[in-house]
Amino acid sequence: MKKVAEFDFWGLPLKQKGTLIFALICTLVTLCTIVNWIHLQLPRGTPFYHRSFLSTASNVTISAYLRTLTRQPHLAGTPPSLSTANFVLSQFQSFGLETSTARFQALLSYPLHSSLSLHFRNGTAVGLPLAEPGSSAVVPPYHAYSPSGSVTSTAVFANYGREEDYEALIKLGVDVAGSVVVVRKGDDLSRGAVVRVAQRVGAAAVLIYAEDDRTVKSGVERGTVIEGVGDPQSPGWAVDADNGGEILGLDDPEVSGRFPRIPSLPLSLECAEKILGEIGGPPLPAEWRESLRSRIPGVGPGPAVLKLTYQGEKKIATIQNVFAIIRGSKEPDRYVLLGNHRDAWAYGAVDPNSGTAALLDIARRYSLIMRMGWKPRRTIILCSWDAEEFGMMGSTEWVERNIVNVGSKSVAYLNVDCAVQGPGLFARSTPQLDDLLVEITKKVKDPDTTGATVYKTWTEANKGINIERLSGVDSDYSPFLQYAGIPSVDIYYGRDFPVYHTAYDTYDWMAKNGDPTFQRHVSASGIWGLLALHLADDPIIPFNYVSYAIQLQGYVDVLSKLLSGSISLHPLSSSIQALHSAAKEVQAKAAELRSPVSIEEDAVLMRRAVNDQLMLAERGFLDADGLQGRKWFKHLIYGPHGDYGSKLRFFPSIADAMKLVESRDIKESEGNAVIQHEIWRVSRAIQRAADALRGI
Ligand SMILES: *[C@@H]1O[C@H](CO)[C@@H](O)[C@H](O)[C@H]1NC(C)=O
Ligand SMILES: *[C@@H]1O[C@H](CO)[C@@H](O)[C@H](O)[C@H]1NC(C)=O
Repeated sequence: MKKVAEFDFWGLPLKQKGTLIFALICTLVTLCTIVNWIHLQLPRGTPFYHRSFLSTASNVTISAYLRTLTRQPHLAGTPPSLSTANFVLSQFQSFGLETSTARFQALLSYPLHSSLSLHFRNGTAVGLPLAEPGSSAVVPPYHAYSPSGSVTSTAVFANYGREEDYEALIKLGVDVAGSVVVVRKGDDLSRGAVVRVAQRVGAAAVLIYAEDDRTVKSGVERGTVIEGVGDPQSPGWAVDADNGGEILGLDDPEVSGRFPRIPSLPLSLECAEKILGEIGGPPLPAEWRESLRSRIPGVGPGPAVLKLTYQGEKKIATIQNVFAIIRGSKEPDRYVLLGNHRDAWAYGAVDPNSGTAALLDIARRYSLIMRMGWKPRRTIILCSWDAEEFGMMGSTEWVERNIVNVGSKSVAYLNVDCAVQGPGLFARSTPQLDDLLVEITKKVKDPDTTGATVYKTWTEANKGINIERLSGVDSDYSPFLQYAGIPSVDIYYGRDFPVYHTAYDTYDWMAKNGDPTFQRHVSASGIWGLLALHLADDPIIPFNYVSYAIQLQGYVDVLSKLLSGSISLHPLSSSIQALHSAAKEVQAKAAELRSPVSIEEDAVLMRRAVNDQLMLAERGFLDADGLQGRKWFKHLIYGPHGDYGSKLRFFPSIADAMKLVESRDIKESEGNAVIQHEIWRVSRAIQRAADALRGI
């Protein structure tokens, strides 16, 4: 019998077994090394994490966040508003993120009582409903910061309530002094501006309604009529909720000047039609009639008489911002901020909690990729603001409080207010962010077209790239850009949604109309979150200032067509030229530093230096004196114009000076000198930006 022991089960002689085991071990070690090497080579770098961020999106979690956030109406300063703050905080904590809160005191405004009745010539009268039917859980429609008052007077229809509309009324022989003017909301004037123009022409009260052709007829648009941004009693500083601080008196002109002096109320289209059907007088000018949805026999005044009462209170309330902070691994002192407000007039499903739901989903996905090993290079801060609806109170107080840190260390502020109102991407930004924004849309799937990127549908819909600018004062980017000079973005899906600021802006409206599959939320959060990842992770900040220079030159070309030849635009052109060449220089330098030739300490410091130039250049556009009469607004390229319309959506101080000349309140030569001075001021701002970009 053969000795079995001499052979192993492979049938090899025992003598060779040792060699075989050795060879096996060698192979194993080699295999392990290869696997390990492959593992290290796997896309673990930023693109890997960025892709993981995109692939972990979930319309299910986003819709669940939205449902919870919109269970109750949550007007700023009320207890349900505090529960939404706690919900956001607890979600951030459940993701394992570092969190903080900032509580401030701010003057808010609430309604106590309002009524409106229509009195006919035959002596009878009817009361008009001011609220949506069945909306008793929601704050009654009102204009925050409207003064209290009672007015009984004839009604006049004043179209959009612009200066030219009152001029048209004068031509018809209609004097609005002492009347209640009824105004339809247009695109040119903010709600507050409508009231201020009416006040200037002597109206006694204002009623404003929205008549978009998709408007739910009984919906009423609540809103603020305060002028400017932030807490009126602490202009330029913040009052900590726990420790208190200086507050100006309500009769201080700087405070009282921000409130209108005549009462105003919002109306439903239904209610407005009842009133407007009862006024006679001369027929409407043809150009008013063209775009009108309702039949209005005349502009008034009367014969119908309106009796309007509004009583409200201004009250110091505690507002609360909530933050999640992801510390940067290499540059913790550089911040990329994502912000959205949380407070709403009613349930706020579109405005603003579609954005809050997106923010929470971004937090969830950032925490997932952190568990996979990601740490951002720079610090990312997710911000949930309070009391935006009253005039950007939460964000403004926070920026004012932290102006040194936020102003000197923020790379960019990425705002989303109403993330989803309907179909189609809309984007606004400062121009150095254009390229990044476009690149990001190529990486995110379109929510409505299978197989397409956002880029494809967005550029097809706009026949090219359409990025608007940030001169408006309509969301929380205002303090970051217009006060602190931080490059900013604002993105949203859809626009002009019919339930804006009404009791009908609910989860059900969103699920039925705004975003039935919540895929638009997924795309909006993808663009938003990926923008932040690039700004936080790219070794060189992905800004292109050449776009800025080109955009500014475009503005000068527009100006040159509007201004008389005696005004020189040369200072602007030459500072823009300086910005253009600085932009190209820094671009070349950045390209050099982007290539990973050297990881020496010197290269690290050189990158940091170039990044600081890129980060700080926008601050050059700030001017310590700010805009005339609105000195809080420091940015001379983007900001609000004086309240009565302008052809320009840029260079606000120049636009104001041009308006002054148009108004003929001063001699032409003096007016031209004012315009020239503003041109110089803007030119110096552009030169400052160029110098900051170039470095010394
Ligand atoms: C009074 O006039 C209004 C409006 O024209 C009309 O609706 C109402 O029926 C009239 N009432 C009486 C009692 O005539
Ligand atoms: C999520 O998206 C899928 C695919 O579009 C859809 O079938 C599903 O109903 C969506 N879920 C929610 C909660 O909207």
